[in-house]
Amino acid sequence: MTTTSQPVVSVEDLTVVFGGSRAIGSASRGTVVRALEDISIDLREDETLALVGESGSGKTTLGRAVVGLQPPTRGSVRLRGQPLAGLLRRDFARTRRRLQIVFQDPTGSLTPWLTVGDAICEPLLVHRLVDDRADARRWVVELLELVGLRPEHADRRPRELSGGQRQRVTIARALAVAPDVLVCDEITSGLDASIRARVINLLTDLRRQLHLTYVFITHDLHVARVVADRIAVLQEGRMVEYGPAAQVFDQPQHPYTQSLLAAQPTLAGACTQRHRPVGDIRSTEGVRE
Ligand SMILES: Nc1ncnc2c1ncn2[C@@H]1O[C@H](COP(=O)(O)OP(=O)(O)OP(=O)(O)O)[C@@H](O)[C@H]1O
Ligand SMILES: [Mg+2]
Repeated sequence: MTTTSQPVVSVEDLTVVFGGSRAIGSASRGTVVRALEDISIDLREDETLALVGESGSGKTTLGRAVVGLQPPTRGSVRLRGQPLAGLLRRDFARTRRRLQIVFQDPTGSLTPWLTVGDAICEPLLVHRLVDDRADARRWVVELLELVGLRPEHADRRPRELSGGQRQRVTIARALAVAPDVLVCDEITSGLDASIRARVINLLTDLRRQLHLTYVFITHDLHVARVVADRIAVLQEGRMVEYGPAAQVFDQPQHPYTQSLLAAQPTLAGACTQRHRPVGDIRSTEGVRE
C-alpha cells in the first residue's frame, strides 16, 4: 500500500440528498432522505477500503458516488485529483471504464440470453480495447482463467452457472476494462460460506496481481477485517468511525461500531486466512459451485 502518493479517489464533504427540491436521481419526490452527510475519504493505490454499516446507512450510495453513478448534492469526488463530474462530461466512456462496480445479485447484472463469453466481450468491444472478435475471445479466455473459471464456461448462459460462478463472471467483466477502482457491493452475500471465502480470496489475490483499489461494501465487519486495510463505518449517512482495519475491529471507539461487532456471529474459519494464492481456488474450481 502506498500511503504517500496522491489518492486514486478522494471524496470530500460528500452529501447526497434524495427527494425534495435538491434531489438528484431520486425515486420519490415526497420525502427527503439524507443518504450521505459530509463524507470525506481517500482511496489509495492497492488499498482496500471496507464500507460497513446497517441496511440503509448509505453504503451503496457512497459506492455509486465513487464510480460516478450518483452525482453529489454537495461536495466532490475526485479521480487522481480531477473532479469526477468534469471528467465524466469531457470523456464519459474512458472515465467510466476506470471505475467499475459489481453488485450483489450477479443474475440481475448479466443478460440472460448472452453467453458468458459475449457478456465479457461486450465491454472490450464497447471501449475498443480489442481489434476484433478473435482478439476479444483470447482476452475472454484469459479473464476466465484469472477468476478461476475454464475456457468452456465462455459458451454457457448465466442460468447454466452456479451463483458463485456467475459472480466470478461479473468480476471478470468488470476487470476486462482494466479499471483503477473496483467497488464490490455485497458481492459475497447470498453465497454459502465456502464459496464466499473463495471469492474473497480471489479478490485479495487479484488486488496484488492487478494493483487494484477496492471498495468492499459489506454488512459483515468480520469479512471487512479479512479483506480491508481500512474500514469506514456508516450510520444513517454519517461516517462514525474510520481507521486501519485492525484498529477499528480490535479497538472500536464508537458505540455504534461496538454494537455492530457485538451483534455479529464470529466468522467461519473459511474466511480467516488472508492471501491464499489463486492456485488454491482454481484447484477446487467446479467441484462444488
Ligand atoms: N434513488 C433513491 N431514492 C430515494 N431514496 C434512496 C435512493 N437510493 C437510496 N435511497 C435511500 O438512501 C438511504 C441509503 O441507501 P443505500 O442503498 O445507500 O443504503 P445501504 O447502506 O447500501 O443499504 P443496504 O445494506 O440495505 O444495501 C436509504 O434510506 C435509502 O432508502
Ligand atoms: Mg446497499
